[in-house]
Amino acid sequence: MRVRVSRAESARSRGACEGRAPVREGVRRMRNGSRRSDGTVLLRNIARLVTLDHGDDAPRCGSAMGDLAVVDRAAVAVRAGRILEYGPERALVRRYRGAAVRDAEQALVLPGLVDPHTHPVFAANRVGDFKRRLAGATYQEIAAAGGGILSSVRAVREASDARLRRTLEAHLLRLGRHGVALAEAKSGYGLSLRDEVRMLEAIGWWNRRRADAAGIWLVPTCLAAHSVPPEYRGRRADYVELVIGSILPAVRRRHLAERADVFCEEGVFSVAESRRILTAARDLGLRLTVHADQLSALGGGALAAELGADSADHLEYADRRTIAALARAGTAAVLLPGSTFFLQMKRWAPARKMIDSGVVVALATDFNPGSSPVASPAACMTLACLHLKMTPEECVTAFTLNAAYALRMQAEFGSIRPGKRAVFSLWRAEEPAEIAYAFGDNLCEGVWWV
Ligand code: NIG
Ligand code: FE
Repeated sequence: MRVRVSRAESARSRGACEGRAPVREGVRRMRNGSRRSDGTVLLRNIARLVTLDHGDDAPRCGSAMGDLAVVDRAAVAVRAGRILEYGPERALVRRYRGAAVRDAEQALVLPGLVDPHTHPVFAANRVGDFKRRLAGATYQEIAAAGGGILSSVRAVREASDARLRRTLEAHLLRLGRHGVALAEAKSGYGLSLRDEVRMLEAIGWWNRRRADAAGIWLVPTCLAAHSVPPEYRGRRADYVELVIGSILPAVRRRHLAERADVFCEEGVFSVAESRRILTAARDLGLRLTVHADQLSALGGGALAAELGADSADHLEYADRRTIAALARAGTAAVLLPGSTFFLQMKRWAPARKMIDSGVVVALATDFNPGSSPVASPAACMTLACLHLKMTPEECVTAFTLNAAYALRMQAEFGSIRPGKRAVFSLWRAEEPAEIAYAFGDNLCEGVWWV
C-alpha cells in the first residue's frame, strides 16, 4: 500500500469538527476473506457492533466524542474489501442470502484500531534505562549521560537490516494482537542519512511484503529530528542542515515517508529549529506532526497549529492558547498517557479542556523502548480514563475515528461505514467500556480484514 494522502486543506483553514473530511486517494485493496461468486461476504453473529458512523468521516469533538453509534445483534455486508452496509442481522441475512458467511461468534465488534504514534523500529530494549530510573535517575539525566534515545541510536546503527526487520515484525505482531490494524511508524533512532533511510526502508518492506498477511499497515514518518547525534555534539546547526539539506530530501525523493516529525523540547530542538525543519519538510510535500510540550511548555503545540500539522503529540504542558490554536487549525492532539505514566510524570495532558474546546483528541500508545514500552491501546485507555479523565467511550473514539483523522486516513479507517475498508477488531466483551476496564488484560480476539 502506498500510504499517500491528499493534503488536509479543509482541516487547516476551519476547525476540523466543522470541516469536511479530506479525501483519501489511491489506496489499493487490502486483504479479503473467502467469497462466493458475487463476491459478497456477510460478517454475522455480532452481539454488538460499534460503528462510529455518524454520517460522514469527520472526527468527533466535544460532547459528540462519546457517542459510538452502536447496533445490537448486527451484521455487516462486505464486497471487495469494502463495507457495503451494516444493520440488524435479520434484515441483512435476508438481503444477502447467497453471500459467504464469517461468524463473529457473538463478539463485540469495533473498527480495527488505529495507533497514530509509534516508534516500532528499534533493535534493543532499554530495560537498563528502566532500572536506572527506578534507582532515581530521571529520563533527561539518562539521556544526558548517553543513554535514552542515543542508546537506541547506537543499537540501530549496529543492527543489520535483517535484524531491524525481525524486531519490527515482533513489535507489530504485538500491536496487532491488541487490535491495531493501522499504525503510524517513525524513524528517529538512525540520525544519519544512512540509518534514517534504513529504518524507513524497514517500514516500507513491511508494507510491501508483510502487512497484508499480518493485517497491520503502517504510515511512515521521518523523525530524523529526534535528537542531535553524538558526532554532531557542539555542532547542532550542522545537524539541522543535514536534516534539511540531505535527509528529508532523500526520504522524499525515495517516497520513504509521508510525514516529518520533530522532537521540539528544551535541550533537543528549539521552536526556531523545529520551525525551520518542519517548514522545509512541508515545502518538500511532506505532512507534519510534532512531539510537542511534553516535558516543558516550549511552544511545539502552537507551532504545529501554525504550520497546519496533522497532529501535535504528548502536550502535557499545553496551555490555553495552544489548545485554542489546535482547535482552530484542526490539528489533532494525540495524547500518550502510556509515556506520561511510564516516565512517572506529575503532569498529565489537559484532555478535558481540549475536548471541551473542540480539539480533535486522539490517543496513541507511543510504543517505543524508552518512554513507553506498551503495545496495548486498551492499557492506554485505562490510563486515559483514570488520569486524563476521559470516558471509556471517548477513549474508543480516540483510538479509532479521531486516530484515523490524526493520520489523515479517516476516509479509509476508523469507523464502520459504507465504502470504508472492511477491517474489524473483535473483543470478548459485552460493551466497549470493558476494554478500558479490563486493566492489564487483553480482550481482543483478533483483527479481521474481511
Ligand atoms: O515519544 N519524546 C520523544 N520521543 C519518544 C521517546 C523515545 C525514546 O525514549 O526512545 C516519545 O516519548
Ligand atoms: Fe514519540
